[in-house]
Amino acid sequence: MIEPVVQLDEVQGVSFPGFRKRFHEFLFFQITDLNLFRSTLLEIKPNIINSKDTLYAHEQWKLFKDEPEKGPKFIFSSLSFSISGLRILVNEEAKEFKDKAFKIGMKKRSSLIGDPYSPDEDGHYSNWKIGGDRPVDAVISFASDDLDTLTSELDKFKIGIKGINLVHHDKGALIPEAHGHEHFGFADGVSQPALRGMRSDNPSEFITERKFSKIPEFQEIRKDFASPGRTLIWPGHIYFGYNRQSANNPREESSIDSPKGPEWANNGTFMVYRRLKQNVNSFNSFVEQEANRLNINKDFLGAKLVGRWKSGTPISRSPVHDKKIGRDMNNYFGFGFRELPKLPGDSFKLAKPDPDGKVCPLGAHIRKVNPRDEGTDIGAATKTPPKLMLRRGITFDEGQNDKGLLFVAFMSSITKQFEFLMTDWINRTEQPRSEGGHDPILAIGKDKFVNIKIENETHRLDLPGDFVIPTGGEYFFTPSISFLNNHLYSPNQ
Ligand code: HEM
Repeated sequence: MIEPVVQLDEVQGVSFPGFRKRFHEFLFFQITDLNLFRSTLLEIKPNIINSKDTLYAHEQWKLFKDEPEKGPKFIFSSLSFSISGLRILVNEEAKEFKDKAFKIGMKKRSSLIGDPYSPDEDGHYSNWKIGGDRPVDAVISFASDDLDTLTSELDKFKIGIKGINLVHHDKGALIPEAHGHEHFGFADGVSQPALRGMRSDNPSEFITERKFSKIPEFQEIRKDFASPGRTLIWPGHIYFGYNRQSANNPREESSIDSPKGPEWANNGTFMVYRRLKQNVNSFNSFVEQEANRLNINKDFLGAKLVGRWKSGTPISRSPVHDKKIGRDMNNYFGFGFRELPKLPGDSFKLAKPDPDGKVCPLGAHIRKVNPRDEGTDIGAATKTPPKLMLRRGITFDEGQNDKGLLFVAFMSSITKQFEFLMTDWINRTEQPRSEGGHDPILAIGKDKFVNIKIENETHRLDLPGDFVIPTGGEYFFTPSISFLNNHLYSPNQ
């Protein structure tokens, strides 16, 4: 199987490999005077970094892992446009995108993806801080491990940039005492798909390192995974200008269904941005109250709702206790009948087939959004990898009543990936597998429930529907570096 060369010097690093910094802030704005915006942007030159340089920077950073204060103080930027922003830059050509969701924006799709209908409710788009009734043309982001470096870069941008109207500023930061965990206390960013593709024509230079042992036992599994549990997906599921997987064989690519857009979209990707407020008290009291009612431990119930313990260990591999297992082993499991060969050094029991959700409930968050090796309402398990996205979110905390997750995800089809997960799986009780209920983390509003099995008995848990409330969001396009050079930095424009 030959994989395509991905132009890593063209792709923005925010999507691949992701910035992975302690602080990641987002400035949302409207463009009021394009020429002024363009000329001042050229003067400030924020470091809009490509994937190749981001990968290199991560390598450099690793060298100073034990003495971060001595390491380089990187500052990375990204720039993305909503459909209205693209119209300002390229006029009618913006219409060439086929993705309906992107073309009409998140506000008009909000009720479809499960947000409240009434303006009286918190999560309704009229109450959003960004997007909704506060439309934006673009978002620039800055990320760094050093807050002073980040703040000075932000100030430089805010003072120097002209021709824009700043609408909102979101400040993402890792939780100081729990890096890598979200506000309900669970490790986040554990499971990510791996991009297929090469850095160059050299057949050993994969863009995602292949870590499976080459011994014959792993010969088959190596074809589908980059490392244990990291599903390989074709670059066309994330980037324009590449192919998606063929209809029935994830190991082959096909041009039939490749992302449709204008030529200049190549090496670009859609960015879904959702500012999600987490109601931590409501979540914790629900878990405590229901755990008491069922006479079980509250951490056990939490693990049933998410599908992982707070440490990130999947309940499928450690059904009773939160025991830490190695990073590689954390994703080495499925729910179906696919038998996995034992990994060297993995002393944990392998996950048992769990078709009825006795261990990991059918409605658990991670099982709803990625049913892994089991068949679903859309067909065989091979249909699921095209639904995966690159998640690059970060937590935020603006005080007691306004903390949560800045959900950021990259994909080449908003309708077939993000919106599909929201409408068809998260918010439907009988899909991807029947009798699961709603996704307990993301269900919003009344009459939502999830089914949990404990010792073979099914318990229906009625959900308050207010754990996660959208407080902003928009669909963006994160273009290639060439697009930025041709449409923003070019003096001939
Ligand atoms: C505040 C809101 C959210 C919270 C607290 C949350 C929490 C989590 C946690 C704890 C995990 C397990 C760790 C991991 O694999 O990274 C996870 C995984 C995941 N979440 Fe969410 N999430 C939220 C919103 C969303 C949304 C809006 C989506 C979009 C559809 C989503 C899609 C996913 C996916 C695809 C995975 C990986 C599943 C897998 O491959 O095993 N999450 N989330």
